[in-house]
Amino acid sequence: MTDKYYLIQEDAHQERVQLPVKRPVQGPLAVDVTKLYRNQGLFTYDPGFMSTASCESSITYIDGEAGILEYRGYPIEQLAAEADYIEVAYLLLYGELPNGEQLREFDDIITYHTMLNENLKDFFGGFHYDAHPMAIMVGVVGSLSAFYHDSLDINNPRHREISAHRLIAKMPTIAAASYKHNVGEPIIYPDNDLSYCANLLKMMFATPCEPYQAHPIAVQALNLLFILHADHEQNASTSTVRLAGSSQANPFACLAAGIASLWGPAHGGANEAVLNMLTEIGDVSRIDRYIAKAKDKKDPFRLMGFGHRVYKHYDPRANILREMCRTVLEELADSNNPMFELALRLEEIALKDDYFLARKLYPNVDFYSGIIYRALHIPNNMFTVMFAIARTVGWVSHWMEMMSDPLQRIGRPRQVYMGSPRRDFVPLDQR
Ligand code: SDX
Repeated sequence: MTDKYYLIQEDAHQERVQLPVKRPVQGPLAVDVTKLYRNQGLFTYDPGFMSTASCESSITYIDGEAGILEYRGYPIEQLAAEADYIEVAYLLLYGELPNGEQLREFDDIITYHTMLNENLKDFFGGFHYDAHPMAIMVGVVGSLSAFYHDSLDINNPRHREISAHRLIAKMPTIAAASYKHNVGEPIIYPDNDLSYCANLLKMMFATPCEPYQAHPIAVQALNLLFILHADHEQNASTSTVRLAGSSQANPFACLAAGIASLWGPAHGGANEAVLNMLTEIGDVSRIDRYIAKAKDKKDPFRLMGFGHRVYKHYDPRANILREMCRTVLEELADSNNPMFELALRLEEIALKDDYFLARKLYPNVDFYSGIIYRALHIPNNMFTVMFAIARTVGWVSHWMEMMSDPLQRIGRPRQVYMGSPRRDFVPLDQR
């Protein structure tokens, strides 16, 4: 297998330029163009980064053609079937599955950091009652900088680790408080006797007036959803966190940027958009009309929950979630849930349509997740907040990986300039 690539410059002297190659543990070879501009005065051009590796990473591996997703080498199917979310969080953060003692210690640390500074509670009251919870998340997570910025030397590995623990621990508390603000109920404090997922459900749905016990299937479903959403290589929000962090910004500000990016309906906001789409379609008899809209180039409508930049076959997470959907609906809701039936029928019809097959558009992680969240009585506008909670460990793992790299430098892409050539200023009375 070659270890160098040649670039032929299409100009007078047909110069051959030898470029080094980075050889991955698995996945495509990468042509290293780091010195291309300095040596050849050339840029590469790749809007949307369709063919660009932005970094080396050891955290997650995806093979889009084969539908493979691995966290630190472990297949997502095995982690989904065997692991607990906190166990997977440890794996992503530290690179190895924890033994019993390491898991207990990590779980205790995360539990210890779940409370918010009491002054933070006032932030929620400042938002309009119907503020979208993602807007509250962006604001409150960014404001954590004001509480911990002074105790944070991002060049100190121990400070970085404590910040990572704080973020993983506090996201459910902030999310639940955002939800309580929306429904006009008092904030419920974390219960350190509960697991990560059971604690979140209690902080969301308990009230001071009566005892609350999360349904075991709801806890199991949330645990699975969080494992499947924990990390996904260099997706838009993770790349946003890395780029923000590359300027040495503090991790709380970086994660606020990541949450903002995740909110987009092309990314993590798709789960909420899927349920809104299924509600709009309403009935199996209207599916063909919406399939036609999705195929119509003049119509901005897209089939939400379908398609993926990397997966050109089934998103392995969608397959796992379809089965969990069935289980949750049988146990918690009406097993012939119209939304689920509609989603199954939509998937079946779309995947017989040449438009979707030719473009390799299959259901992605967001297609079924919202139906499960709904069955857990989580409202549509909280779906992407759930995604953000789960993805926090992925974001902080990538941030830690980048900040511990001695060669880390600020990310600063260039451009292909297509504006006006140089021209002189024209005085106002001559325009
Ligand atoms: C996530 O990156 C990640 O890893 C993200 C994620 C993670 O875990 O972090 O996996 C989570 O964000 C999943 C994706 C959720 N988004 C959606 O479900 C929104 C709907 N999907 C699309 O908008 C789209 O598929 C993207 C954004 C997901 C991918 O966009 P690409 O790779 O830029 O593909 P594209 O827009 O260039 O589309 C290629 C073709 C186009 O048609 P042509 O111009 O070739 O004729 O496919 C069409 C598109 O019009 N197309 C769709 C479509 N998605 C793509 N047509 C109808 N419905 C769709 N959903």
